[in-house]
Amino acid sequence: METIKAIMTRRSIRVFKDTPVTEAQIKVLLEAAMNAPSAGDGRPWHFVVTTDRAQLDALADAVDEGNPMFKQAPAAILICLDESLEKFKGFGPQDCSCAAQNLQLAAHELGLSTVWVAVIGVPPRVAGCRKVLGVPEHIKPFALFPLGVPGEHLEAEYRYDEKKIHRGMWSNL
Ligand SMILES: Cc1cc2nc3c(=O)[nH]c(=O)nc-3n(C[C@H](O)[C@H](O)[C@H](O)COP(=O)(O)O)c2cc1C
Repeated sequence: METIKAIMTRRSIRVFKDTPVTEAQIKVLLEAAMNAPSAGDGRPWHFVVTTDRAQLDALADAVDEGNPMFKQAPAAILICLDESLEKFKGFGPQDCSCAAQNLQLAAHELGLSTVWVAVIGVPPRVAGCRKVLGVPEHIKPFALFPLGVPGEHLEAEYRYDEKKIHRGMWSNL
């Protein structure tokens, strides 16, 4: 798939088939995530991967009180931030966001789908990820991605908006 086509057709999918996600697919997603740009090339990320049904079910309850996405998804990846690896302090969330978007686009390319589930800044979800996936205190759970073959189809949306563009100078004219 062309990069621009992938960007323009990716959607957040929250319904999954029970078809397994293979180790080879997971490797591609992790390779894509870790090839992301990061401030000072710090790469302050870690990834917790699970395909364990009991853990995925526990995540559903721990992260969102029974969120059905995790009851269906055959895999999930938690991106974590290790602030001790930041080359420039405070840039870690931006670095992890770059990895996250690469992961989402790679999933789309492979015919898988996912949705960014916010974790950092949401204390009950942070606690849930720590409990279910054993994330230690010095590592920050950043965002969680259920993964699977899509069980729903969402049309591409075209969101280009001229009003958001300011050429040369910011102006309301
Ligand atoms: C930082 C961020 C946090 C998000 N958190 C959640 C979330 O907690 N739960 C969820 O269902 N979707 C979440 N989303 C997905 C958005 O709802 C989704 O990207 C948005 O509605 C646009 O739809 P699209 O991804 O299909 O283009 C999040 C997306 C981003 C970028």
